[in-house]
Amino acid sequence: MLSESPLGVYDSGVGGLSVLRAIRDALPHEPLLYVADSAHVPYGEKTQEFVEQRACAIADYFVSRQARAMVVACNTATAAAIALLRRRHPALIIIGVEPAIKPAAHLTHSGVIGVFATTGTLASPKFAALAQREAPEVRILLRPCPQWVRLVEQGVLSGPEAEAAVRAPVAELRQAGADVLVLGCTHFPFLRDEIQAAAGPGVPLLETGAPVARRLRHQLQERGLLRGQGPAELRLETTGSANALGELASRLLGQPLGAAATPERWRGLPRD
Ligand code: DGL
Repeated sequence: MLSESPLGVYDSGVGGLSVLRAIRDALPHEPLLYVADSAHVPYGEKTQEFVEQRACAIADYFVSRQARAMVVACNTATAAAIALLRRRHPALIIIGVEPAIKPAAHLTHSGVIGVFATTGTLASPKFAALAQREAPEVRILLRPCPQWVRLVEQGVLSGPEAEAAVRAPVAELRQAGADVLVLGCTHFPFLRDEIQAAAGPGVPLLETGAPVARRLRHQLQERGLLRGQGPAELRLETTGSANALGELASRLLGQPLGAAATPERWRGLPRD
């Protein structure tokens, strides 16, 4: 059983585990409760209202578990719902993830960067504002990759199918001059080897797990909420199949892990 007051981390599916990995490295004594909203994955092509609804349900669930903080480990949900979540739970530390546009703008020599993300993230006003604020002088090439999310959810991380899915989008942005690539969806770090192979050695692939973990640590510290000792605890829950999540998470995190079902009340309707 997980200790009281965990840190809640959630995503539409397993993508947020790429952020959870960084959180575990930065905060090894914190009990973590990860929720994969697998019954509703992918979020990338869903409406803003739907993604907001799910974000509110999961935030309310974390609050019911006395979570000290919530990490929205999903670019799509951050873009759609973080402002609403902060209004709904003003006392809760809520950290979101955004594509690494700022570091990419600093790193580029060609003045062109490529961003892979979901359709929802790339179409959001929040993303447009981020690009305008952090990289006004840079040309930003956008490429939605919903198929990459599906592959990671199926556990296809390498091999001919993954290679084929990654090759064309990466080649397209590289040929258009992008010399830095942003992985603007938390699922994509799990395809990193294939993306790197397609992009060529030395091309930076930017993800956001580590900076998110640092921001979380800082905010907990500031409020005196950091746990300095105690065992590393991790509970995985899903609104979908617990067996499937346990198996896939074990592969993605490289250790045997079990998973449980999120209580029914928070799972949402299948027709959603
Ligand atoms: N992992 C998510 C993100 O960072 C969402 C992928 C999806 O559900 O479409 O955007």
